[in-house]
Amino acid sequence: MKIVIIGADGQLGTDLVKIFPKNELVPLTIYDVDITDRAKTLKVIKQHSPDVVINTAAYNHVDKCEDHEVPAFAVNTYGVKYVAEACLETGAALVHISTDYVFDGAKGSPYLETDQPNPQSIYAISKYAGEQCVKSILNKYFIVRSSGLYGAAGCLGKGGGNFVEGMLKRAASQSELKVVADEILAPTYSLDLAKNIYELIKTKHYGLYHIVNHGSCSWYDFTVKIFELLDRKVVIHRLTAAEFKAKAKRPQYSVLKNANLEKIGLDKMRPWPEALKAYLAEKGHLKT
Ligand SMILES: NC(=O)c1ccc[n+]([C@@H]2O[C@H](COP(=O)([O-])OP(=O)(O)OC[C@H]3O[C@@H](n4cnc5c(N)ncnc54)[C@H](OP(=O)(O)O)[C@@H]3O)[C@@H](O)[C@H]2O)c1
Repeated sequence: MKIVIIGADGQLGTDLVKIFPKNELVPLTIYDVDITDRAKTLKVIKQHSPDVVINTAAYNHVDKCEDHEVPAFAVNTYGVKYVAEACLETGAALVHISTDYVFDGAKGSPYLETDQPNPQSIYAISKYAGEQCVKSILNKYFIVRSSGLYGAAGCLGKGGGNFVEGMLKRAASQSELKVVADEILAPTYSLDLAKNIYELIKTKHYGLYHIVNHGSCSWYDFTVKIFELLDRKVVIHRLTAAEFKAKAKRPQYSVLKNANLEKIGLDKMRPWPEALKAYLAEKGHLKT
């Protein structure tokens, strides 16, 4: 199975490259293919003639999207449309990565794939529109929604860090941290997500999938767990999202349930505290 990965040097892309057998892989960065260029996207995908394309590319700085909706839609919607069109033309299946932020957070219990999205920010609207392009163009697709990703490479779209590294950096220079406690999610280790995507694409069970580490927590709870696992005493205060004053509106509750993955017996995701511990070990933060 020949697999093209778009965004191969990103946070998730790097972990996909780690997991997938090298002889099957064509890892592409933005220098090989910029998905906002329709002609080039078609040309490059045709040239490799893959069985599967995995699109991890995104304009994913959520707050920045509010003032930069043109590039946000160019990558998250039109770019996705072009990749889907290239897959249609070459017969490749598409794995497209989307987000928990397509939901408004009002449900208050884990979101299933059958729940109706109601995106609340430019980022979320552009990502949901990208999903719609995939669905309307292709039959052979996996749309994978995940949440609060952190991985060893860090998120390129957010300056190369991730939430965990951000907290560690802040704790190095500040004696007390303030963290949002009223946004609940299922933070997910991108290495676990990559492993489960690999299992999923070996099946022909196309469709929409939620793939997150199990359980849920607030950003505050997540931060407390980071320092607990590292056995470090850090004073952490609860902040409300209203006090934090982020530019983009985020869902207060965006926990996803891996319902479709469970149905096909492929939910290999572990609880988020275990995944966090494994991440801290991978990065060498945790002495084992
Ligand atoms: N990070 C999260 O918390 C989170 C949560 C839920 C879902 N997601 C989704 O998960 C996916 C992967 O996120 P990530 O954290 O791995 O992000 P990331 O580290 O920013 O990786 C995105 C990759 O896409 C590339 N890219 C950006 N624009 C492109 C374009 N026009 N053409 C081709 N490549 C382009 C980036 O390259 P350059 O940086 O060099 O431009 C980077 O390699 C995204 O679809 C995102 O929406 C992320």
